[in-house]
Amino acid sequence: MLIDMREKKVYERPLLKSIESSMPGKAGMPASVSVVSEIDGVSLKLLASKNGTPLFVFSEMQIRSNIRKARQAFLTRYKSVAFAWSYKTNYLSSICRLFHEEGSWAEVVSGMEYQKAIDNGCDPTKIIFNGAAKSEADLIRAVQNDSLVHIDNSRELCLLVSIAKAQNRKARVAVRVNMDVGTYPRWDRFGFNYENGSAWQAIAQVMKEECLELVGLHCHVGTFILSTDIYRKATHKMADLACRIEREYTHSLSYIDMGGGFASKNTLKGSYENGAELAPSMDEYAEAITSVLMNTPFPSRQMPMLILETGRALIDDAGYLLSSVLTTKRLADGRSNVVIDAGVNLLFTSFWYNHKVSVVQAPTTCIEETRLTGPLCMNIDVLRDRVSLPLLNPGQMLLFHYVGAYNVTQWMQFIEYRPSIVMIKEKGEVKTIRRPEDYDYVTALEE
Ligand SMILES: Cc1ncc(COP(=O)(O)O)c(C=O)c1O
Repeated sequence: MLIDMREKKVYERPLLKSIESSMPGKAGMPASVSVVSEIDGVSLKLLASKNGTPLFVFSEMQIRSNIRKARQAFLTRYKSVAFAWSYKTNYLSSICRLFHEEGSWAEVVSGMEYQKAIDNGCDPTKIIFNGAAKSEADLIRAVQNDSLVHIDNSRELCLLVSIAKAQNRKARVAVRVNMDVGTYPRWDRFGFNYENGSAWQAIAQVMKEECLELVGLHCHVGTFILSTDIYRKATHKMADLACRIEREYTHSLSYIDMGGGFASKNTLKGSYENGAELAPSMDEYAEAITSVLMNTPFPSRQMPMLILETGRALIDDAGYLLSSVLTTKRLADGRSNVVIDAGVNLLFTSFWYNHKVSVVQAPTTCIEETRLTGPLCMNIDVLRDRVSLPLLNPGQMLLFHYVGAYNVTQWMQFIEYRPSIVMIKEKGEVKTIRRPEDYDYVTALEE
């Protein structure tokens, strides 16, 4: 990187450093420091001066590009494909609406998410209602609206029968299937099991009920799945069930829903390699799933629609968290500890990811191993335990990458207020899509 020598030089505090002899890791020598001063052409200094920090920033351009590339990867291989936006991954309305504008349906798991999808203008017949704890009131509304209800358990199946009969309707349902695809731990908590026959029993039960129409099968075999082979195995089992339904009931399904789970570019803790290099491409996932479907001899010769509920892989790299250094100190072992204004209250996913961190200003020449901790008075408030960063001073800014998924839904109002969220629109305009919390917001519900 070229440093403009006319710029005033940055004061670089002295550092005494013991020489550590270490071998290069599996991925080679430690990565150099990344410097990022703008997103989509918008200066981060300017964003911070207008909105303060911490600040979540989303890129409309990246979101649209992600969903378009994903659709293309599947549609060039398989005729009928729909993506259903996984609301729990990020249910900021401005984000959901972008996905709906790009043709995505909605995948929701609670009454609150269902309401959001309706408010976001989603066609109710294109809302997929998943979840293990749907209330009776929510099911009544979903059946009334002709939404797609994915049955999780036997109680729900019975409830649906009585609701559909009471409304004198044929409710459109799918059976959620869990299965052994070689992952550990096995995701067998949701839906009915394939191997022990309970999925088939649930299907038979649905087929028996006049008031239910079995329109699909659903599975979601895990998350951050790095092996495309797992999808191959899962698709085989789903296609196998669909064929058996055709043979035994002369009934063809409208769709097979393979759920979400594609990995984002994030790096899991303990991973040797950088997540951006490890994650299969959308084409690789698409090839794994669609090749199995294309080679399945469906007796009716009708290919079911393929639905995907991809969450993190479509949004993680479109979200950033901008944060400022509050203070620096030394740990007892001499390591640098940098306290920043964003903690695990905002970056929940830092419990399992080593998020990529960039510095916003040109780095000083000296790099040291640093522990990044948040503002919470709590020992677990650690965002990166060991990361190579230049010597930082209060006021300097850091940018966390790949934070678009599961943070602004799982964040906590704990000790600090939750900050603003802005979106950089395609033409560079910056819009606030969620205002920062304040004292009145936090205390509003107290009696
Ligand atoms: C049923 C269902 N579909 C889709 C998703 C989205 O998963 P991911 O973000 O891993 O793509 C989830 C996430 O837990 C889920 O439970």
